[in-house]
Amino acid sequence: MIQENFNLRPYNTFGIEVFAKRFSAFSSIAELKELLTQRNDDPLLFLGGGSNVLFTKDFDGLVLRNELNGIEVIDENDTHVIIKSGAGEVWHDLVLFCVENNYGGIENLSLIPGSVGASPMQNIGAYGAEIKDVFVSLEAFHIESGEIHSFDKEACEFGYRESVFKRRLKDQYVITSVTYKLTKQHVINSSYGAIEAELEKMEVIDPTIKDISDAVIAIRSSKLPNPAEIGNAGSFFKNPVVDPLILESIQRNYDKVPNYPAPNGKVKLAAGWLIDQAGWKGKTFETYGVHKMQALVLVNYSDAKGAQIFDLSTQIIADIKDKFGVELEREVNIL
Ligand code: FAD
Ligand code: EPU
Repeated sequence: MIQENFNLRPYNTFGIEVFAKRFSAFSSIAELKELLTQRNDDPLLFLGGGSNVLFTKDFDGLVLRNELNGIEVIDENDTHVIIKSGAGEVWHDLVLFCVENNYGGIENLSLIPGSVGASPMQNIGAYGAEIKDVFVSLEAFHIESGEIHSFDKEACEFGYRESVFKRRLKDQYVITSVTYKLTKQHVINSSYGAIEAELEKMEVIDPTIKDISDAVIAIRSSKLPNPAEIGNAGSFFKNPVVDPLILESIQRNYDKVPNYPAPNGKVKLAAGWLIDQAGWKGKTFETYGVHKMQALVLVNYSDAKGAQIFDLSTQIIADIKDKFGVELEREVNIL
């Protein structure tokens, strides 16, 4: 059922109060098709968990929340299992399902908010893993033709926090299901420094996938604000991938700049470190600001406007460009 003048505050983890002209959830393709017959010429917005969006104004169109559910094992052998999940499932529920059944491969991605359907949108990643590592294919509803199209890994054009759905095919498809290949014989990935330190604290020597998941949950809970308490959308900016000459120029003033190798001879810098060094960490402007524990996370403490948070991000981009010669790019989808 379509509701009018619908408050989206509970549907975005920034907790921004904006209104959609019309809103409905859908839990089957038939329901989606039926809703699209009532679209008129309205702009469309598909929402999962609303954990990677910043609303800067009311949405003058039809917002459709994806509630296509169901997790199925569709194939398995002695070493692997193929799992297909509805796009509306909560990502962390899928992780817990896999960890409980001893299916390995997504434990490092524990506790990332949002839906399964959004996981390929920006190739979610954390603690040394990305979904492209376990991704097999996805099905997506083509809005213009009403057909379901299948995309394999290559067709998704995954990159760091990128996919074809954020670029060339933006706003053309609704992802309806995602299929992943997980392992029964695990390759434990504990190389990310913070995981090693957490496992030591937990006194775990030979970690299981459950231990990795528990360690990641503990690290994330200690560093990142819980959206149920403080509005946020995780990292507001991407970590910039730059020419090594830029790194060298920063190293002239700061010898301990965190940096990581990136493809094509480039280096990835830590945007949180740059923003922190520039003095923004913990800065608060009445109802919003830069998080005290993680400078990459912008926060809404109560009833900030999305436009205020957007303006803050613009100021940060200009300051980082000025101080370090690095152009930050927003990770969060601005609406
Ligand atoms: P939404 O915010 O609902 O949507 C995001 C975009 O995808 C929108 O443009 C929307 O239109 C589109 N979209 C959503 N679902 C579909 C669909 N089924 N078909 C087509 N388009 C769709 N991200 C990481 O990668 N790594 C992290 O470690 C991480 N940590 C986070 C921590 C916190 C506290 C928070 C709040 C966010 C974090 N994020 C992280 C960002 C966020 O969790 C992910 O981007 C997540 O995949 C977003 O899912 P969602 O369902 O909430 O997407
Ligand atoms: N740092 C600071 N000050 C800060 C924040 C970070 O100096 O305020 C330094 C840290 O000390 C560390 C480096 O920056 O040396 C990197 O920090 P961290 O390990 O916390 O990771 P991040 O680069 O800030 C990225 C992802 C996160 C992901 C974590 C863990 C991006 C944009 N962000 O954060 O993803 O969870 O690594 O893998 O790539 C998200 O995308 O929303 C997100 C939360």
